[in-house]
Amino acid sequence: MHQHLFQPITLSKTLSLKNRIAMAPLTRCMAGPGLVPTQTMADYYARRADVGLIISEATIIRADAQGYPNVPGIWSTAQIEGWQRVTDAVHANDGVMFCQLWHVGRVSHQIFHGTRPVSASAIGLNERIPRMPGLTYPVPRALSAGEIEQLIEDYATAAANARAAGFDGVEIHGANGYLLDQFLHYASNHRDDEFGGTPENMVRFPLAVIDAVIDAVGADRVGLRLSPGAYAHMSEDKRDKAVFELLLSELEKRNLAYLHVGIFDDSMTFESLDGLQSSVFLRQNYKGNFIGCGSYTAAQADASIASGAHDMVAIGRPLIANPDYVSRVQQGEALVDYDADMLNTLV
Ligand SMILES: Cc1cc2nc3c(=O)[nH]c(=O)nc-3n(C[C@H](O)[C@H](O)[C@H](O)COP(=O)(O)O)c2cc1C
Repeated sequence: MHQHLFQPITLSKTLSLKNRIAMAPLTRCMAGPGLVPTQTMADYYARRADVGLIISEATIIRADAQGYPNVPGIWSTAQIEGWQRVTDAVHANDGVMFCQLWHVGRVSHQIFHGTRPVSASAIGLNERIPRMPGLTYPVPRALSAGEIEQLIEDYATAAANARAAGFDGVEIHGANGYLLDQFLHYASNHRDDEFGGTPENMVRFPLAVIDAVIDAVGADRVGLRLSPGAYAHMSEDKRDKAVFELLLSELEKRNLAYLHVGIFDDSMTFESLDGLQSSVFLRQNYKGNFIGCGSYTAAQADASIASGAHDMVAIGRPLIANPDYVSRVQQGEALVDYDADMLNTLV
């Protein structure tokens, strides 16, 4: 049963995985004081080490990257030591784990870090902040060119910190309407300098981050998540497609460990992508390893690997509900249904 899901895969010269199930990055808002990962988090990830690849919950690269309470960081010594306990526990169970590197950009509020949120342009998000009753997102401040240079360095430092903390690699979070994605979509990028206005300019900052992270840890240990279809914290623009086509052609030259689609439900199609699903658009424009995601059952994931649509599939909510997801699927046992109340505890 599900024979394709349980085939090993070699992602890069340093990464061989025992199966094709990835644990999708899942923010749980359970970090301790100082945004330090806890022992409970170590136990939670270690219980899921039988997936081929664990992608950590999004982990902020510096203080102003924060947009949700109690998310873990990867810049202080205490945070790195906290993550070391997590990766040790995962490795003890024969798991492989990447750290998802995150900056939310405008999807933030000064309440988290005391400064005005930053973005490509001063364009606010007209939404309420989840888990923070009564708060809406403020209008961000556009980053200066000098601040962009600093951010590129901060991503590279975070990647090096992740390796120092024992992660096997990093996934750059370029999806879901957060900072890097804010540069890649016309709705949020109105810049008229070298970082906006044309596809060449709009990919400049995300590509510089990718290259700096590759320099820090090696392309064989770098994954990237993208959402070419605007579905979260973003609105669509027909011109976005050309930006992603250019980005993907550049990525082809870089030999990353993998590309991963950011989407909640992969049956969604996008007018801005000529009616395609995000995953189909990415697969058509990128030849390297590709991780699908978005409301997949194990049977659908298996079929999508069999058809060549994906090389691996990331599973999110079912892995929250079933720490033993892999063995249940392998043995054909029923799964527990996911329920949002499960987010209240880390088991
Ligand atoms: C509680 C929760 C937290 C999430 N946190 C993240 C995150 O930190 N980073 C990210 O890229 N996606 C995040 N996502 C999106 C998931 O990675 C995934 O794309 C989505 O859940 C669809 O997969 P699924 O249907 O298998 O759950 C989150 C989703 C949920 C439900």
